[in-house]
This record gives sequence, C-alpha cells and structure tokens, in this order.
Amino acid sequence: MNKKMTINSIQKSKGERPLVMITAYDALFAKLFEESADMILVGDSLNMSFAGKKDTLSATIDQMIYHTNAVCSGAKNTFVVCDMPFGTYATKDEALKNAIKVFRETGADCVKIEGGSDKAGIVRHLTQNGVAVCGHIGLLPQSVRGEGGYKVKGKTESQKINLLKDAKAIEEAGAFCMVVEGVKAEVASEVAKSVKIPVIGIGAGNGVDGQVLVFSDMLGLFEEFTPKFVKKYIDGATLVKDALKQYANEVKTREFPQDIHTY
Ligand code: KIV
Repeated sequence: MNKKMTINSIQKSKGERPLVMITAYDALFAKLFEESADMILVGDSLNMSFAGKKDTLSATIDQMIYHTNAVCSGAKNTFVVCDMPFGTYATKDEALKNAIKVFRETGADCVKIEGGSDKAGIVRHLTQNGVAVCGHIGLLPQSVRGEGGYKVKGKTESQKINLLKDAKAIEEAGAFCMVVEGVKAEVASEVAKSVKIPVIGIGAGNGVDGQVLVFSDMLGLFEEFTPKFVKKYIDGATLVKDALKQYANEVKTREFPQDIHTY
C-alpha cells in the first residue's frame, strides 16, 4: 500500500511528478480509487452528479460532512480534501467555524475554497488557525449564477494578469496547493510556474503540476453533459445499463437466481 500523502509530500512533488486527484463521494468508490489517487476530493460537484441538482450552489456543510465521512471511511490511507460549499466561508468567522466543524466531524486533511485575491484574507485566517487549505482559482463553479454561466478564463491579457495575481495571493495566504479550473492551457502553465505550491488543473491543459477529474465524468457515468476537458476512460453508463438490462431479463425469465446463488 502506498504511503498516505501529507501537505509536505504534496508540496515536494512539485517539479518531480504530476499529482493525481479524483473526486469521490462515498466509501465504495473512495476505496476503489485509493490505489491510484494521491488525493481524493469530496467536491461540491456531488450536488450535481450525486444529488441531481443543476449546479453546486445548494450543497450544505452537513452534506459535505456526511460524504467526507464516507470517503474517509473508505480511503483511510489517502489524503482527503473537503470542498467548502457556497456561502459557508463568506466571512473569516464563518469560514473558521465551518472548517473547524469539518475537521471535528470528519477525517478530512484539508478544506478547499473557491476564489483568488478576494478570498486571500479568508485563506490566511484559516491557515493561521491550523486549517490546511487548497485554493481554487479560474472558473469557479460556485460563481456560476453571479457570472451568468461557466466561463473559461485566461482568454484575455487582463484575465491572465488577474489569474497570476490570484495564484500569488492564495500562495502568500498560506494555501499548500491549489486547483486551477477552466483556464487556457498556456496561461495555466504560466500560473503553475509562477508559484512554489502545486497547481492541480481541471480543464487547464498539461502544463500544470497535477490533474483532477470528477469521477462520474471520467467513468462515463454522468450523462447530462460532457465538458471538452473530460476524457471518458470507460462508458460506465452503458456498462451499468446493460448489466441492469441483463439482470431484469434474467429475473423475468427466472434465469436468476440459480442454484449457486441459493441457500
Ligand atoms: O467540486 C468539485 O468536484 C471540484 C472539481 C471540479 C475541482 O471542485
């Protein structure tokens, strides 16, 4: 079994090898992912792919705690990141209160917070109080309603300058790593080079320090839409539907259960 990563070994990996991060929302999948993932993210994307909502905004801290607990039970030997949901870190006090709740009630190793320079004060307050923080800049799913859609960043010079400022601000505030989402590849690569902490990309090209994907996307289980940056490693939806079809047929024809499935 691989040794569980720490914020120190995660930071040391920069420049040595790309980090592998994947989302999980329950113990079953978390356990399956342990062997290959450096870090498991309990993302608030669970509100869409697990809870069936149209965006991440209605995820609650209790929901995140419930799923993080399940993931920590399944992947006892993997670094677990718990996403702080929308509205739970609007002020320093709220952020610390909720991060402490996550740490007290789950085995999460850090929390993740969306935002750049605007959230640096919050990130600093958390890190100064012993909370490990993974930043998240670029396309921010929690800002989807405020921005009127999911907008790829880094397309203009001013967006590039803002991203570089955001990354620096989050690093200086004490984050030990950050996710960069939905950013033009060459800009994401510049961002990664501009900071000393690992930059984990999603839809940010191959010039960053690691990759994260939403597991239900990469396993082809989430059928509503497939962003350009997703590679489906298996067609999970078809595999599951075919298996269910076969099971249903066998129940109806009494092919299942057979003697070997019977006491
Ligand atoms: O919620 C999530 O799954 C995320 C990833 C998209 C990075 O934040």
